[in-house]
Amino acid sequence: MPSNYRLVQLASGAHSIHSLAHRETFHPVIGPVLEAEALYVNQLRLRERLAGHAGEFVIWDVGLGAAANAVTVLRATAGIPAHIRLVSFDCTPEPLEFSLQNAAALGYFGGFEAHLQTLLRDHHVHFANDRQTVDWDLHLADFPTLLNQPAAAALPKPHAILFDAFSPAKNPHMWTPQLFTRLFQLLDPARPCALPTYSRATMLRVTLLLAGFYVGVGHATGEKEETTLAANSLSLLAEPLPPKWLQRARVSYSAEPMWDAIYRQAPLTEESWARLQAHPQFATT
Ligand SMILES: C[S@@+](CC[C@H](N)C(=O)[O-])C[C@H]1O[C@@H](n2cnc3c(N)ncnc32)[C@H](O)[C@@H]1O
Repeated sequence: MPSNYRLVQLASGAHSIHSLAHRETFHPVIGPVLEAEALYVNQLRLRERLAGHAGEFVIWDVGLGAAANAVTVLRATAGIPAHIRLVSFDCTPEPLEFSLQNAAALGYFGGFEAHLQTLLRDHHVHFANDRQTVDWDLHLADFPTLLNQPAAAALPKPHAILFDAFSPAKNPHMWTPQLFTRLFQLLDPARPCALPTYSRATMLRVTLLLAGFYVGVGHATGEKEETTLAANSLSLLAEPLPPKWLQRARVSYSAEPMWDAIYRQAPLTEESWARLQAHPQFATT
């Protein structure tokens, strides 16, 4: 059977994989490792958070794909004594199977190949990684459907979420306000959790705010001059969107969330505008 994926070489020289079905390349500009370091490891301040953490540190990896984000996070933090629980989600094992067949060209798996084969086979793997111990779970399912099942309430509550679906235009079901509202509800309010993502789109930021998150400006990644960091606690945001950002949302032609999971661009409705203004991040006392 022909593969749905193909290996591509990026302008940077790094290799990545391309989904033929979605016509999108994973980590398209600076490559898998540099993007994962900039967007997740550094932005989440994972080394600092892990160093000060007692007990299990839970990371959700939404869109496991070719496992570049997950592996980069583990490799970047291996020297910090910690117990990490990685909970990966994807609707298909194919990109990981394909990338393991092309591990030499991709070049980022270094030593994790056998663990990833076990993860694919058993949907769980436990191993030691330098000074860490790692428990890694894999949930193969449609993510929005999985979150809406009662069993989702029993998933380990995350301290950090790597959110890496395809773009809203190609993968609208993964960017709806209903999905992020459910995700926010599943967090433990007493457990600060941050979620970086590669987009800085006003529509995405409005979606996260209406779902309940606080939202801030995210670091540049080399690919994007600005990204987005959401969290359930303001303490995790270095640069929360200021009240003047509301005016940008108000005049934007593309700010209203995709309630119907169909990609389109639309200005804010009056209802969404009222809800945005009342968000605790902006509401004045
Ligand atoms: C950009 S790729 C992720 C790349 C990956 N994080 C990595 O580091 O290699 C997006 C992933 O989201 C997954 N995905 C798309 N729609 C999904 C859905 N409805 N439920 C679960 N996963 C989904 C795709 O199968 C794909 O592997």
